[in-house]
Amino acid sequence: MFADGIYEVIPVYHGNPFRLNDHLNRLQYCLEQIKLTSPYSSEQWQTIIEQLIERNGGGHMSIYLQVTRGVHDERDHLYKENITPTVLLMASPLTVAEQPLTSCKATLLADTRWQHCDIKSIALLGNIMLRNQAQAKGYDEAILHRDGKITEGTTSNVFIVNGGIVYTPPQNNYILGGITRDVIIEICHTAGVEIQQQCIHIEQLLAADEVWISSSSREISPVIQIDDKIIGHGKVGPISKTLFAEFQHFKRQLLATKSK
Ligand code: PDD
Repeated sequence: MFADGIYEVIPVYHGNPFRLNDHLNRLQYCLEQIKLTSPYSSEQWQTIIEQLIERNGGGHMSIYLQVTRGVHDERDHLYKENITPTVLLMASPLTVAEQPLTSCKATLLADTRWQHCDIKSIALLGNIMLRNQAQAKGYDEAILHRDGKITEGTTSNVFIVNGGIVYTPPQNNYILGGITRDVIIEICHTAGVEIQQQCIHIEQLLAADEVWISSSSREISPVIQIDDKIIGHGKVGPISKTLFAEFQHFKRQLLATKSK
């Protein structure tokens, strides 16, 4: 009734969950933020997820996991103690798993969401209103801004390239700490690509050589147009290509990993 819960979306490649510990750590962080005790330990979550993967035949899939406050006999805004949280997990196809690098178009919209965007709350009305606004205008995603600065997409994190340097907004309460975002930062470090986590102003975004969005369900998707502005001559840039290739390498490593 209150959308009082937390969720995770975990990509699975070759039957192995990608960055599972990071997803479980974020789940734990978010549950702590809303004072909801996790019904399972990290090891128990892992076992449940492995069973779900197995029951769905392994391969590539996306796992949705949510924990909500639980059932109480009266409608009350106060947290209730001693009720059992409700847990839901499901698996669905991960269409992006075998896809080549796929570009998209975005529109800029004011970030009208709340100020706790670091919490992966199931209350997504703010995000879905903006995403649908973008869709109605013919765009794949909305890139959001507050006070002239870029925060993130409605379902993704944002990166830009300017003069060979990658920039992404710093992690704070205005953005979700994306697991894919962390992987990209890691890849930049190992590939020797300079990356800085700092504020990106709207003007910098629109003047960027390359822009991409990232998420567990989209991986890396270059943005080649933002409203009427064409980014990087409307073509996927070299750094996007390099990072995408490295990301595929990370995925392939899971092929060799035996699910523990
Ligand atoms: N969303 N920011 C927002 C607002 C998101 O909803 C997401 C992901 C991300 C990227 O996080 P990650 O890399 O951990 O997926 C950033 C998921 C996929 C969803 O809601 O379906």
